[in-house]
Amino acid sequence: MVFDLITIFPEYFESPLKVGLLGKAIQKGLLKVRLHNLRDFATDKHRTVDDKPFGGGEGMLLKPEPLYRAIEALKKESPEPWVVYLSPQGRLFNQEVARELLAKKHLILICGRYEGIDERIRQYFVDDEISIGDYVLFGGEAAALVLIETVARLVPGVVGCEDSVKRDSFAEGLLKHPQYTRPRDFMGYTVPEVLLSGDHARIERFRREESLRITFEKRPDLLAKASLTDEDRAFLEK
Ligand code: ADE
Repeated sequence: MVFDLITIFPEYFESPLKVGLLGKAIQKGLLKVRLHNLRDFATDKHRTVDDKPFGGGEGMLLKPEPLYRAIEALKKESPEPWVVYLSPQGRLFNQEVARELLAKKHLILICGRYEGIDERIRQYFVDDEISIGDYVLFGGEAAALVLIETVARLVPGVVGCEDSVKRDSFAEGLLKHPQYTRPRDFMGYTVPEVLLSGDHARIERFRREESLRITFEKRPDLLAKASLTDEDRAFLEK
């Protein structure tokens, strides 16, 4: 999996790409994240990447020419890269969208800044516009990191225990069940007995029901789309 990032702040990504499982995955070569400074694709001596919007209005926009040059340069590197623009106007990102992006193999991520990018780039050179939520960030960098982390976890080998990715919240359309570690008794609050029973079938059923319960309580909207068994439905109707 290759991520090419186009940004005016490549330094933003330095630490996040070094730490934890993402850092390890990059070191091992399971994924590549390449940083490209948009200013390197400007042609004037001031390396200008922004300009005022036609018709007036607040703020500045990223100019089309440097973005076009950057996209075209990166497109040469693989047969069919998928060009994503991070913006609050995009379709909402979630685990399903992450799985879709994983299948693309080579993503070019454009991080907007200021008031966004020239519409002609969005319209003619971007394949996908993605928002990470209904709020506005200073720019697309934090959103790109969210996207990279989420897709990276799905790359085989990145998370040591494949089973844990399968059991993540949203993996099956439900929130993850609660978990407990030692001590068994913490200030009088104890671990549910079933988890100490060693009975794997009962533990599985308990975890499934806990997932159903917290999804019902916290995110009932997810239940409508989740794939549920008859046993799950019977539990929810109780
Ligand atoms: N840039 C600014 N806000 C954003 C958001 N919510 N999602 C993606 N990119 C953004």
